[in-house]
Amino acid sequence: MVIRAVVRGTGHYLPDRIVENAEFEQSLDTTDEWIRSRSGIERRHFAAPGQTTSDLGAAAAMAALADAGLEAEDIDAIVLATSTADLTFPSAATMVQAKIGMTRGFAFDVQAVCAGFVFALANANAMILSGQARRVLVVGAETFSRILDMQDRGTCVLFGDGAGALILEAEEGTGGTDDRGILSTDLNSDGRFKDILYVDGGTSTGATGVLKMQGKEVFRHAVEKLAKTANAALEKVGLGAEDVDWIVPHQANLRIIRGTAQKMKLPMDRVILTVQDHGNTSAASIPLALSVGKAAGKITPGQIVVTEAIGGGLAWGAVVLRW
Ligand code: UT7
Repeated sequence: MVIRAVVRGTGHYLPDRIVENAEFEQSLDTTDEWIRSRSGIERRHFAAPGQTTSDLGAAAAMAALADAGLEAEDIDAIVLATSTADLTFPSAATMVQAKIGMTRGFAFDVQAVCAGFVFALANANAMILSGQARRVLVVGAETFSRILDMQDRGTCVLFGDGAGALILEAEEGTGGTDDRGILSTDLNSDGRFKDILYVDGGTSTGATGVLKMQGKEVFRHAVEKLAKTANAALEKVGLGAEDVDWIVPHQANLRIIRGTAQKMKLPMDRVILTVQDHGNTSAASIPLALSVGKAAGKITPGQIVVTEAIGGGLAWGAVVLRW
């Protein structure tokens, strides 16, 4: 018998304010047509003034707890992926811990930008397999609207705010790929590429800063690296693309998502798509897509789900799980 980290519940939260592409036409030299055709994005949500990343994360966490039929006190640990924590410290995870009324266990943030949720899942899985926690709340929460240069048309039209959460629970399995739960992970980073996607603020400048991106360069790396990491994670457990029921990709750009599916020889009807409605919500995009896909009745127990993401660092990776 082996221990597996099995999905017990999911939830998400999106701020009320929906910003349609057309809204950017009023302040920038851009069009709805350009944004749609280059990125697949039609709209995104922006947090209200005063609404923080931990507010969004706590709302998603409460939804996941309700979905799992659990209380906050049933959770042993929170792993929260974000690059837009409310404050430099304490972690957004401990803020979520307080907001959901959890007074035991432990909580911490993981920062791997858009790949953050994949890294958080791998971390939570490792803690469950090593017996450090039985139930882990894994959250991806972001308010990227707070780090956008609203005059930079090459970046500000692409990102949005939101949060998603998933509860992983230890369950006994046989060790084979028929088990439910996380089956494999593949994590990568290469710090030589820090200048193609970064925020120009932090302790080195004394200000929060804004997002800077060489879009074309990031695009090129994404198309090259995402299918590779997804296939590597599948190969680790002897699975192939033909075994995959759903690809749940990081939702940055429809053209990247299509390119990755094509490289994996998977049709687009096996891909969960939310980029049109959420934009790029960085570490929140995968848990949002998992929760939306499950709520829509698409992702069902027993299916093989592959998540893959790439972001600043560069950092990228994939997780294979049986739902
Ligand atoms: O989450 C992980 C990190 N992010 C990503 O994965 C994003 C990766 N990159 C991308 O998604 C794409 O590169 C973009 C959507 C950012 C851009 O698409 P592209 O096809 O690579 O366009 P481009 O950057 O080559 O720009 C083409 C043209 C440029 O004009 P010139 O130089 O050809 O005259 C841009 O100035 O489009 C112009 N442009 C715009 N035009 C209208 C850039 N942004 C806009 C805009 N509206 N919002």
